[in-house]
Amino acid sequence: MSAMREHIDLKPYNSFGLSVSARYFIRVQTLEELQEAVSFAKANSLPMLLLGGGSNVLLRDDFPGLVIQMALTGITQTARTQDKVCVTAASGEHWHSFVEHCLALGLHGLENLALIPGCVGAAPMQNIGAYGVEVKDLITEVQVLDIASGAIERMSNAQCAFAYRDSVFKGPLRGKKIVLDVSFELSRSAAPNLSYGALADALADKEGVVTAQDVFDTVCAIRREKLPDPRVLGNAGSFFKNPVLSAEDFAKLQQAHPALPSFAAPGTAGERKVPAAWLIEQAGWKGKQQGGAAVYEKQALVIVNRDHATAEDVVGLAMAIIESVYSRFGVALEPEVQWIPVLENPTNIVGQLAR
Ligand code: EPU
Repeated sequence: MSAMREHIDLKPYNSFGLSVSARYFIRVQTLEELQEAVSFAKANSLPMLLLGGGSNVLLRDDFPGLVIQMALTGITQTARTQDKVCVTAASGEHWHSFVEHCLALGLHGLENLALIPGCVGAAPMQNIGAYGVEVKDLITEVQVLDIASGAIERMSNAQCAFAYRDSVFKGPLRGKKIVLDVSFELSRSAAPNLSYGALADALADKEGVVTAQDVFDTVCAIRREKLPDPRVLGNAGSFFKNPVLSAEDFAKLQQAHPALPSFAAPGTAGERKVPAAWLIEQAGWKGKQQGGAAVYEKQALVIVNRDHATAEDVVGLAMAIIESVYSRFGVALEPEVQWIPVLENPTNIVGQLAR
């Protein structure tokens, strides 16, 4: 087993660059190393925190247990039909490199998800999505380790209960299963997905057929323009989810704010998704700094570590934004980033504030 370390600063292991410590820390590269690490935690009654790229977590406090950095690698592929190919990637594979790898093999479907930070194992946890594609559209199966029994299990797409930035792994199975690998069904011939307005606009002047490579290049360009590179400026991507409002609530809000942008929420009865970035910007937060944390000046949905932010700075800014958006629009923002320790009731932060 690679070396177990003690009292480790987690700053290099979370993309926010927050300095909190882990009582124990281990990087695992094989299933056997992972199993040994899990046994160690169980034998010592330690809570466990699994980290991949650490790009979607807000580490609020020192972690009293064992942090396991997942570094299992390996990619395999099996042809299903002449067109469809099943590709399985281990959870520690770097997401963007995996997307590039599939594109280079002529396998399409993941190109809209280029440049999302983090590792493959995090993709099903929060059903990553961008530019018109959610990863649930491509995942066929997830292989997991059951922590209690030690059994290795296969979970179908349906068993993962995917929803907008959500899955069973963030809900009832939180802390119970560890994602080992993820299988995707990709296509050699599928037409690019240009359903996202900003992507279609950016490709509108392209002559000839739009290819998966064009989509990949354009998504990378849009993201590089709008989103801060966590290696340069600490952040965890979108900090909040885009709220989904009932048709009735949306109509009321739109009446009061006619410029309110919105998008259809697929699979719902007339619900509308409203950009949290718009609400935050309108409430005056874009570019604002509080302590060392700030709202990114080019994308109001992203909180950045502007100047040696502490976890308290980020939490304080997030709470101030939630409160302000709620009092201005009556809309309760819910964090998209995973707070560790876990928030007991992420949808009820406003309820707690309003009391
Ligand atoms: N907008 C503003 N102000 C801003 C930025 C955006 O008013 O500062 C408004 C505009 O009306 C714009 C709309 O918000 O049209 C949508 O903005 P954008 O296309 O940048 O997307 P988003 O809704 O802010 C979501 C995802 C991103 C994903 C993009 C593109 C969530 C929580 N976020 O952001 O995902 O990259 O769409 O598909 O759904 C992430 O999850 O970490 C993430 C970055």
